[in-house]
Amino acid sequence: MESMNAPASRPLTVRSATTPLSGAVTVPGDKSISHRALMFAALARGETGITGLLEGEDVLRTAAAMRALGATVTRTAPGTWQVTGKGLGALQEPDDVLDMGNSGTAARLLSGILASHGIFSVMTGDGSLRGRPMKRVIDPLSATGARFTARSGGRLPLAIAGVADPAPLSYRLPVASAQVKSAVLLAGLNAPGTTRVEEPVATRDHTENMLRHFGAEVAVAPLDTGGRVITLAGRPDLVARDVAVPGDPSSAAFVLAAALLVPGSSVTVRGVGLNPLRTGLFATLREMGADLRLSNERVEGGEPVGDLTAVAGPLHGVDVPADRAPSMIDEYPILAVVAAHATGPSRFRGLEELRVKESDRLSATVALLQRNGVSVDVVGDDMLVTGTGGAVPGGGLVETRMDHRLAMSAIVLGLVAARPVEVDDTVFIDTSFPGFIDLMNRIGAGLAA
Ligand code: S3P
Repeated sequence: MESMNAPASRPLTVRSATTPLSGAVTVPGDKSISHRALMFAALARGETGITGLLEGEDVLRTAAAMRALGATVTRTAPGTWQVTGKGLGALQEPDDVLDMGNSGTAARLLSGILASHGIFSVMTGDGSLRGRPMKRVIDPLSATGARFTARSGGRLPLAIAGVADPAPLSYRLPVASAQVKSAVLLAGLNAPGTTRVEEPVATRDHTENMLRHFGAEVAVAPLDTGGRVITLAGRPDLVARDVAVPGDPSSAAFVLAAALLVPGSSVTVRGVGLNPLRTGLFATLREMGADLRLSNERVEGGEPVGDLTAVAGPLHGVDVPADRAPSMIDEYPILAVVAAHATGPSRFRGLEELRVKESDRLSATVALLQRNGVSVDVVGDDMLVTGTGGAVPGGGLVETRMDHRLAMSAIVLGLVAARPVEVDDTVFIDTSFPGFIDLMNRIGAGLAA
């Protein structure tokens, strides 16, 4: 996704599936873990081997950025990468702007690294990323001593004058965000003393897990509220360690949802990451009556992994509590599609963070459903979907707004809609799930290539 030269759009007309979906597949590597593997390896001493890396546009941006900062980053086979780190505090000043494409995770996490090195850098991104809030990382990271200059509203492009001797931070997250938590912890790596982050609700803990894997001392204490306090001992000896990236549960979600909805389907996704802070969707689908079977549970590279089989069947509406949102924050668009087909009303509570994703996902998901004849409402920060109990009318044009998850949700909706669904652009699917359309066709979706 060049921010200067926007890629040509790739529209798609999706017709209802004529046969059940079936087969066993794997999905690309976890996006969150892939970004972190490249970044942490670049900060560690020695050579890290990564397998199962997501080779989506977002992660390739991170790979390019770590290269621009002096690390050696090489692809040796599909999904297999070698990174030779510079050692903590030793990244070099990049000689050009760092273009993070569509990736909020790359931009937010990297800002923590850049703030805590004595270098000057400028970050930008595509039209979607340049519209997303960076103040949420600028505010805490400014207390390190680093200086930030951004466009109005704290938007990219963002200039960062980092500091070689950052002050350790103690920060209570005002929003439930693993990206902000991770930015603060990453800045703390090169700070003397202890960095402390308090999160009001637990968010994905891949940063904590992987920092430990590379040799850092990270302590996590639960709070009565369900939140956590994370402390990191500064200036650890980060040593290269191999990383095996599990399949992305947020990508598996689209394949499994399609299998639950297309009558007669049964599809297995193998090797899905099952970190409990990522699996809110699977719990919700089961509450809706989904036949979702877990097998072959194991631990790979420090993360729980398993095979998930989805078997189509009747589903009913669900009420999803707000405190579950962090564990399924990227899954609401596809959950809304599933709820549109279920019988009866659904309510998803506490979705304010959806407004600041790759698009305003709250309004974009509402539009996706409304355009296709589904009754949906937003009350405060809650989304209410009235299920049709079968095929939705369809026939609408979906604007995907540079948002990969909207594009994939629209495709799944089209597979079970009465009339064809037009998707304005599928290009952005490549940010997180390259090969999605081919994979869906391998299990029988019959999408036009
Ligand atoms: C991510 C955290 C979440 C999520 C994003 C990936 C991460 O964002 O939506 O896709 O890897 O830390 P927030 O931190 O904004 O909730």
